[in-house]
Amino acid sequence: MMTKPDAPVRVAMLGCGTVGSQVARILVEQADDLRARVGRPLELVGIATRTRRDRPGIDPALFTTDAAALVARPDVDLVVELMGGLHPTLELLMDAVAAGKSVVTANKALLAQHGGQLFEAAEDAGVDIYYEAAVAGAIPIIRPLRESLVGDAVTAVKGIVNGTTNYILDQMHTTGADYGDALAEAQQLGFAEADPTADVEGHDAAAKAAILASLAFHTRVGLDDVDREGISSVTSDDIAAAEQLGCVMKLLADCRVSPDGTIAVGVHPSLVPVSHPLAGVRGAFNAVFVESINAGQLMFMGPGAGGSPTASAVLGDVVTAARNRVRGVAGPGESAYSTPGITDPGAVLSRHHLALVVRDEPGVLARIATALASRGVSIQAVHQEQFGGSGTARLGITTHLAAVAAIATVVAGLEASDDVAGPIRVLRMEGN
Ligand code: HSE
Repeated sequence: MMTKPDAPVRVAMLGCGTVGSQVARILVEQADDLRARVGRPLELVGIATRTRRDRPGIDPALFTTDAAALVARPDVDLVVELMGGLHPTLELLMDAVAAGKSVVTANKALLAQHGGQLFEAAEDAGVDIYYEAAVAGAIPIIRPLRESLVGDAVTAVKGIVNGTTNYILDQMHTTGADYGDALAEAQQLGFAEADPTADVEGHDAAAKAAILASLAFHTRVGLDDVDREGISSVTSDDIAAAEQLGCVMKLLADCRVSPDGTIAVGVHPSLVPVSHPLAGVRGAFNAVFVESINAGQLMFMGPGAGGSPTASAVLGDVVTAARNRVRGVAGPGESAYSTPGITDPGAVLSRHHLALVVRDEPGVLARIATALASRGVSIQAVHQEQFGGSGTARLGITTHLAAVAAIATVVAGLEASDDVAGPIRVLRMEGN
């Protein structure tokens, strides 16, 4: 803990890329205000990077390639981790915590896989771990879940937490581009990485969903608990079906309490009715929609990535952790007292939309309805149109809430029958 009344709070930074360079800039440009808010100066004393490469506007003397030595420096109070990766990042942060330093991190993958270990170590050491920037960039959502809503009972958190995929799906709607073209454009504009797997296959969103669910439901949800599906299979036909249904296609992180009290956590391309607040979240923006017993419905929206927006979230954590150190306290730790268990993915309830091509003959619709009814699936709406005059029809069926496994069983049976031509496209639909 800090003793001298005017001693600065000394910050070490691991990584200095898009976000880190903005954090360094703000620490210098807003030094006077930050000092006033913390009650002591915030001093950046070192930056560890993989290769020694000077950044414009940052004192070259701050750079080192020895992250372990920087973390071990006795004059460092606070470690800001923006280097990413799991190893040696975890070990560096565990060392920092063990040495009594507070940590600010934006590392969603690390938290989703090793958060429990880090939080326990921080609790034992009486230091802070803050991670507002790990989920949805600049949007304040960690602190609202961790602090503002801690007296309420959250029942659901639904989010558009990946800007790359939201941009791609939005382009597919607005320009009619197919998935490949929309992805290529996102890569040209710098929204998508050259290897887009983490974003388009939902890994990034799944890590964020695990973090959100852990906080919202006071438990520990790991990456392996998240039922994940990306957007690479979304076609122009899916987008057309969405529009016909009055919906937009979104990659939704969906975390909620199931009727049996277990927690369902998934990431899926989902049909979102245009009346839902998440439907209006366009381009690369992120948003998180929270439902709780007492507050009701809350919506948080903003930039989910980018240097300055993400640095804003990092700086908020840095100031908070620094304020705590000046007062000789630690902020609220993890609240993972609950062990509700994870809902079996097949038991998760969702509305569904089935798109299928059927023989246009008497009794076909009745047999499909009977197959759904036999598994307790209730039909909400049916839409049929002729299909090329070849004795087939295109059928769209929207269901009420039904278990994912029940739908899969019915679909497998129908696909094996003579009534249905080709595979059935199954999509989840938001709503009850
Ligand atoms: N790649 C992420 C996105 C940002 O597209 O939203 C960092 O999590």
